[in-house]
Amino acid sequence: MKKHVVLYKQLSPALMERLQAHAEATFIDDPKRDDFARLRAALPDAQGLLGASIKLDATLLDLAPQLEAIATVSVGVDNYDIEDLDRRGIALCNTPDVLTETTADTGFALIMATARRVVELANMVRSGDWKQNIGAAHFGSDVHGKTLGIIGMGRIGEALAQRGHFGFGMPVLYHSHSAKPAVEARFNAGYRSLEALLREADFVCLTVPLTAETEGLIGKEQLALMRPQSILINIARGKVVDEQALIEALQSGRIRGAGLDVFEREPLATDSPLLRLKNVVATPHMGSATHETREAMARCAVDNLISVLKGERPTNLVNPKGWEAQR
Ligand code: DGY
Repeated sequence: MKKHVVLYKQLSPALMERLQAHAEATFIDDPKRDDFARLRAALPDAQGLLGASIKLDATLLDLAPQLEAIATVSVGVDNYDIEDLDRRGIALCNTPDVLTETTADTGFALIMATARRVVELANMVRSGDWKQNIGAAHFGSDVHGKTLGIIGMGRIGEALAQRGHFGFGMPVLYHSHSAKPAVEARFNAGYRSLEALLREADFVCLTVPLTAETEGLIGKEQLALMRPQSILINIARGKVVDEQALIEALQSGRIRGAGLDVFEREPLATDSPLLRLKNVVATPHMGSATHETREAMARCAVDNLISVLKGERPTNLVNPKGWEAQR
């Protein structure tokens, strides 16, 4: 008999067919809409879950005693309590690698847009306010040749370093758990303490996962170390930055600007002071949001889920303990 999976992310017809060859699937559109009532009703029969952007807390998981696997369509796993999943014997799988290049592209789009004031100036043209050649009041700052500081030298950090070093001739500095000699050799990159990186970089790019250790990593004290002409780029998670401290640093001109794809609360409130600041480029958590990459992520999640349901170890297993516990 086929196992039963609950999807809370729409799959393409091809992926739905791939999944249905192995499992009965129930799709729940926008599960948050009715306060999770439809999801809760479906959980008791679910052996697999596939989706993203929902905090599957203990009260929801208590309703799913048969659950073997959660396939999140994301690389980030900050919505999950891994120890709890281990105890329950639920395998969690994510979608690394396939989104690395696209997310690094987004990082560079934010670097370019913020430094060169692309959104602000494009809006000026659109609103009919471009009446004469622009002058110094509308100039931006160069990207090429400036110092790129990367906090978190994982896959996405490396892809940013590649773009900066080879594409824009940028000296690369990085901070992470430990020094990475291979990265240093490839990009001529220099390892720095967090404080030294903040002092030296023109662009400070955050690519760390959200954990207890990285929550609030960049606050008032850290922003005070940054150069006045520097720009903060966040493609990690909103909570890595103390948003109120960032707003104050931007309002006071302590730093030049910020390119933000992620926020403490998403969607960003329409009355957020960030949206009144011209030196902020805000995008809607679109790091991996291309047709190609989102399809590749969904395919990866489907394959992870099928593996667990077939009793095979999935490629992208986040919690080996949870997987072992169910065997
Ligand atoms: C990820 O994959 O973690 C992206 O940030 C989307 O949530």
